[in-house]
Amino acid sequence: MSSPGFTALPDQPLANSFALPARACCLYQVDDVDALPEALRQAGSTALMLGGGSNLLFVTEQIDSAVQVLDKRIEMSENHGERISITASAGVIWHAFVMHCLAAGAYGLENLALIPGTVGAAPIQNIGAYGVEVMDLIEQVQVHDRHSGQTRWWSHAECGFSYRDSAFKADPQRYAVLRVKFRLWRQPRLQLAYAGLDTELARAGIRTPTPQDVAAAVIRIRQRKLPDPQRIGNAGSFFKNPIVPQSKADALRAQYPNLPVFPAGQSDFGKLSAAWLIDQCGWKGKRQGDAGVSAEHALVLVNHGAARGSELLALAREIAASVATRFGVAIEPEPRLIGAHW
Ligand code: EPU
Repeated sequence: MSSPGFTALPDQPLANSFALPARACCLYQVDDVDALPEALRQAGSTALMLGGGSNLLFVTEQIDSAVQVLDKRIEMSENHGERISITASAGVIWHAFVMHCLAAGAYGLENLALIPGTVGAAPIQNIGAYGVEVMDLIEQVQVHDRHSGQTRWWSHAECGFSYRDSAFKADPQRYAVLRVKFRLWRQPRLQLAYAGLDTELARAGIRTPTPQDVAAAVIRIRQRKLPDPQRIGNAGSFFKNPIVPQSKADALRAQYPNLPVFPAGQSDFGKLSAAWLIDQCGWKGKRQGDAGVSAEHALVLVNHGAARGSELLALAREIAASVATRFGVAIEPEPRLIGAHW
């Protein structure tokens, strides 16, 4: 069935980077993002909004309907002095967008190269890596509210961004992103403070890096440290780094001097490394059937082939329980669970 701007396809597989079996009785593919509200209305209130499928864990294998935006338009809009505004539709592939901006001389996103997913998913979990979070570069987000039926642009402040979180993530069924308007820099403003990034540039013999050099270094680090979802199913970091009161971080630091603690962006709180906590509990490289913990990075759960979503979730719960028992710290999943609650 086809309507202007979207097509409804019966019984479709749902691509997801965990490579889990999942199907929708009806998949609405949206080619023109302005038709998204109507596609969502026809798909029904329980329809799942899919991005690139790179931050989902399908615990249920069959859903009624899903909606996916394929619109990949990018508009270089206004220049304001040293800033440049670029608007991208939700279906643009994130990494392609980063590379497009770099080639167009619009800077600031280079540390976010190679993150899987789409532009539409980026603000929902405020994607971040190597010292940059996407909220730093977002001016506005065009959002459809499925409860009120309204579509409008939300200001940066309304989006309620924080570490791997936003106002949209609080109720992911309610809000659908149509477009994101970015505010980038016309001159490079490099963020090189993240440990490992400077080392990677030095290793390549680069003293005065360009934004392209930074993107290339980030790509090399990610390829080395994180398992490639094309080869082995995974959703990147499975757990968020826990934010705890500074007094708790200090007490743990006294007991475990090697524990990494990072600024949490809020006074009196510290952000711990979930990878380190999980690694210390002996999980790295462990496997239960086809559900496992990556041997490359303790924060990444992997599907060795035929794991079910329920098996990955059971493994995640065991990991979280062991971290809670040993360190008294609660860790929470970063990907959205479909058909289960944490
Ligand atoms: N570490 C271990 N064992 C490991 C891996 C790491 O102990 O197996 C420790 C090390 O001490 C290391 C520290 O953990 O110094 C931090 O590791 P890393 O630099 O890889 O960063 P992360 O905190 O584990 C976060 C993001 C990643 C992002 C990197 C780089 C979250 C949940 N994850 O990982 O994002 O790429 O920083 O900025 O914040 C994602 O969200 O999917 C993701 C991959």
